[in-house]
Amino acid sequence: MKITIVGSGYVGLVAGACFAEVGNNVTMLDSDKEKIRSLESGIIPIYEPGLEELIKKNKKLEQILFTTDKKLAYENAEIIFIAVGTPMGEDGSADLSYVISAATDIAKYISGYTIIVNKSTVPVGSAKKVREIIEQNLINKNATFDCISNPEFLKEGVALKDFMSPDRVVLGGNSKKALDVMKGLYSSFILKNDRIITMSAESAEMTKYASNAMLATKISFINEISQICEKVGANINDVRLGIGSDSRIGYSFIYPGCGYGGSCFPKDIRALQKTAKNEGVEVKILNAIEEVNRYQKNILSLKIQKHFGLNLEDKTFCLWGLSFKPETDDIREATSINVITFLLQNKAKVNAYDPKAMPNMKRLFPQINYFENKYEAAKNANALVVITEWKEFRNPDFDRIGESVSVIFDGRNIYKDMDLSKFDYYFIGGEIKSK
Ligand SMILES: NC(=O)c1ccc[n+]([C@@H]2O[C@H](COP(=O)([O-])OP(=O)(O)OC[C@H]3O[C@@H](n4cnc5c(N)ncnc54)[C@H](O)[C@@H]3O)[C@@H](O)[C@H]2O)c1
Repeated sequence: MKITIVGSGYVGLVAGACFAEVGNNVTMLDSDKEKIRSLESGIIPIYEPGLEELIKKNKKLEQILFTTDKKLAYENAEIIFIAVGTPMGEDGSADLSYVISAATDIAKYISGYTIIVNKSTVPVGSAKKVREIIEQNLINKNATFDCISNPEFLKEGVALKDFMSPDRVVLGGNSKKALDVMKGLYSSFILKNDRIITMSAESAEMTKYASNAMLATKISFINEISQICEKVGANINDVRLGIGSDSRIGYSFIYPGCGYGGSCFPKDIRALQKTAKNEGVEVKILNAIEEVNRYQKNILSLKIQKHFGLNLEDKTFCLWGLSFKPETDDIREATSINVITFLLQNKAKVNAYDPKAMPNMKRLFPQINYFENKYEAAKNANALVVITEWKEFRNPDFDRIGESVSVIFDGRNIYKDMDLSKFDYYFIGGEIKSK
């Protein structure tokens, strides 16, 4: 099929590459000329495992092309996916300006019958809004279209696998014709059709928010339990195993940690709170998720303060991991930002290492020291702070770190089973002093 994807970011690029991989003709449109230039020249502007290879392969086969030309992208497309950003607006609601602008453009160029699919995470009612915008701005009066809501559930870091083999595909809309085409499109990724769930556009939009809110709830729940464990002398790592083994609960998303970040959970929880407020619904759980996470993102700073006090002028901190999670270069709302801000405010020297996220962090904090190697970053540091659980941090040579480092702050409890007796060891839910 001829597919156009508006927005060549984390979601758009993954969706485009996967649709091209199974034989569709994909046109990637973006308003960012620099981004399109670099994609055209083979430079992929984000890090996502496997994405570069997939895009290069399909570009060679001429199954994916990159453009800023709206007419070229929209005029003959059979399906147009809107995958632009929906960042947090000033009042916490989702900023729909990019979606509205894409819809307005689409209306100017479509011809024939086109399916417009909203893949961006948008509040309930947005599919209706997109339909109205297109109707109002339609130039070619012979053009007809249907709107479908198709929220995306991929996880950065394993996005290709998630897209190619999704747990489910949610399709929202009431046009049988459009839903049938969409089911056909996704059949390449789903051999059993029972993983396609169809519903109203409103329910599909709500499903995405409810799903992220549920996941964030699990994270904030275990983090709150870890705070109690710390006070009462229980071991949160054992408690996690104890509760996760209950099949009704499960192990996923109950790892204690230094708070969630990323481009989705923080803004989506806020947007859902705002929707509820607008509708007069009091949301105690949603408010608590956010509140617990705000505290948790400062927990490493509180532990550092407990150990060193607030005069950090002669101290050097080595930070391992800057991205909001492993296997991505995405630093949006990452806890590392809170930690760096705290350390700089208290005049500490900051050495940082991350396998992929340093270029992004350099733009935000040019004043800290970046290293190409985790051990180089730890050299001469007083403390090691682990913020992101990249695989290469999981079993390091502690002798090499221990030359200067005397204390480890483990924001992801990855060293819980290691012999760290020569360090003071702070983890989420407790601390162990060196012997
Ligand atoms: N990143 C994720 O893991 C993830 C997962 C699921 C859903 N989502 C949702 O998907 C949407 C996109 O997220 P993302 O992380 O890919 O965003 P992103 O910021 O990485 O990419 C968005 C892209 O859209 C482009 N753009 C904006 N307006 C445009 C327009 N009018 N025409 C053409 N291009 C335009 C921007 O230049 C940018 O390249 C958001 O609503 C997000 O909440 C994201």
